[in-house]
Amino acid sequence: MTDLWQNAMDHAVALAKKAGSLVRDAVQNDMKVMLKSSSVDLVTKTDQMVEQLIIDSVKEKFPTHSFIGEESVAAGEPCVLTDNPTWIVDPVDGTTNFVHGYPFVAVSIGFAVNRKLEFGVVYSCIEDKMYTARKGKGAFCNGLLLNVSDQKEISQSIIATEFGSNRDTEVVDKIFSSMRKILCLPIHGIRGVGTAATNMCLVASGCVEAYYEIGIHCWDIAAGAIIVTEAGGVLMDVDGGPLDLMSRRVVAANNKIIAESIVKEIDAFTPLRDDAPPETKD
Ligand code: IPD
Ligand code: CA
Repeated sequence: MTDLWQNAMDHAVALAKKAGSLVRDAVQNDMKVMLKSSSVDLVTKTDQMVEQLIIDSVKEKFPTHSFIGEESVAAGEPCVLTDNPTWIVDPVDGTTNFVHGYPFVAVSIGFAVNRKLEFGVVYSCIEDKMYTARKGKGAFCNGLLLNVSDQKEISQSIIATEFGSNRDTEVVDKIFSSMRKILCLPIHGIRGVGTAATNMCLVASGCVEAYYEIGIHCWDIAAGAIIVTEAGGVLMDVDGGPLDLMSRRVVAANNKIIAESIVKEIDAFTPLRDDAPPETKD
């Protein structure tokens, strides 16, 4: 069993490298941008092509495994996590960055068995940084061991977050109100590189103390989640409860003290779950 997952992880790393090099090449070219749920939810042919490449390769090598991918779900595939070994994939995390040539774009591949993450691979392809973690075996960037920051003072911390792609004014107001409260704790600063997966890897690397967001999807955070915990960090819901991969809410932090300091300030809201029945989605 153990060897089988190692095999799958090696395959994920090879796929992420291949996918990342296609993404990196595509940044140089003109691209046709299409819209998904709104005028700020973008997708390109590269997102779709890279996801298909990953699905085809996984299906060939691991025919019994299940697959949840951002673009497959957008095309109507179900988004349900079962006990079956499941690949949870974002082919291009940071599509808006990709479209604008903003240099943080990641390929994110998480893998869960019995609904628990076994490994995660995030390839920040413009920077050429390969982040990996396997359950119980630590987290690495380009082969170097990662450790979260040991900071316990929120006032000495940098916190990462994002604005996401929901422009409803009530949602935007809550995002700003949470950021305002956190900034005024005060903290050293707020950052965000435009990809959830990379933000989580920055928590794992110890250069930001935490990352939180409401509105992300399971494919944005699955790989990053195990990279954070294997680097010594913690995950929770924005209400302080356990992380639910399908709930579209996440806090990833270096430790519980910092996570709970943020949780206290977040004006939480509840987006439609990733695994909500299709008829409830627009
Ligand atoms: C998005 C990025 C972004 C986050 C959004 C995600 P995508 O993923 O991770 O940082 O703010 O919530 O949807 O659409 O670029 O794959
Ligand atoms: Ca994406």
